[in-house]
Amino acid sequence: MNAPSNSLNAFGTLVISGGSSGIGNEFIRLFLKHSPTARVFNLSRTKPDFSDGIYNGDHLSVDFTDRVALDAACTDLVKRLEAVPGPVLLVNNSGFGSFGVFNGADVERDGCMIDVNVRAPMVLTGRLWHILKERGGMVVNISSTAAYQPTPLFATYGASKAFLAHWSLALWRENLGTGLHVLTVCPGPTSTSFFRNAGFRERPNVGRGMGPERVARMILEAVRQKKVLLVCGFRNRVIAAFAGVLPKVWVTRLAHWLVKSFDLERFKHRKESA
Ligand SMILES: NC(=O)c1ccc[n+]([C@@H]2O[C@H](COP(=O)([O-])OP(=O)(O)OC[C@H]3O[C@@H](n4cnc5c(N)ncnc54)[C@H](OP(=O)(O)O)[C@@H]3O)[C@@H](O)[C@H]2O)c1
Repeated sequence: MNAPSNSLNAFGTLVISGGSSGIGNEFIRLFLKHSPTARVFNLSRTKPDFSDGIYNGDHLSVDFTDRVALDAACTDLVKRLEAVPGPVLLVNNSGFGSFGVFNGADVERDGCMIDVNVRAPMVLTGRLWHILKERGGMVVNISSTAAYQPTPLFATYGASKAFLAHWSLALWRENLGTGLHVLTVCPGPTSTSFFRNAGFRERPNVGRGMGPERVARMILEAVRQKKVLLVCGFRNRVIAAFAGVLPKVWVTRLAHWLVKSFDLERFKHRKESA
């Protein structure tokens, strides 16, 4: 389907975080199919590896948990963008989660999660703000359906995604009618390395998930249509709608019961034997 090309060609540049794997990786691939001459700048710890050679973009190696490194990467990125005219599409996609009951031992890891899922998108968007505003463009923030309710056993992750979704929607409203558009994306379970990084051997079998290619395609279409909010998939939209109207305490109990009923412990990495 070639339909998305025309409006996507308006973006001479894609800046994306977390393009080294999963949804971000697929998004780069699809974007370049529609806009083959666009410049791509990726920020993550690992360089994206496309065996078919479709990507030869700029990679800024950065760990978002390192504030000094993030600041330096932003300075470098702004310099590079000054040499490339035209509207910019910024996709704040990097993120990770973690499964388990919160306890004191998790402070370090959860602090890093807030750095990656919350602080980095805010800093990156802020540092590119003058370019986005002057040239017009779009900011896409990859939140999650976890943003729609408190998520016991993924407490910090869900809260970080709720921050991102609310922040993103607020930015959209603040900039309505200007040349800058903001799109908030809430995928549901998607088969990527997210689950391995969250402490699972594989994606827990909790109903039909989606492949990253399908999610990336939906995001690209939402960019083309300048949507405000994308919840990926009908089932996820129904769940999100219910979660949004139920009283908070009920929905928190329900979310806890649901996660428990999936018996996610079964899918966790085995602990090293003592
Ligand atoms: N998979 C799901 O079920 C699901 C559902 C809803 C929302 N999401 C969201 O979708 C986004 C993409 O996730 P995914 O599913 O595609 O998982 P993924 O394949 O694990 O991708 C996560 C990306 O984040 C980057 N990242 C992680 N830690 C980082 C750090 N410290 N500094 C810089 N970059 C870092 C990773 O790059 P490096 O490792 O190279 O640094 C990687 O490219 C995330 O924001 C996630 O929360 C995922």
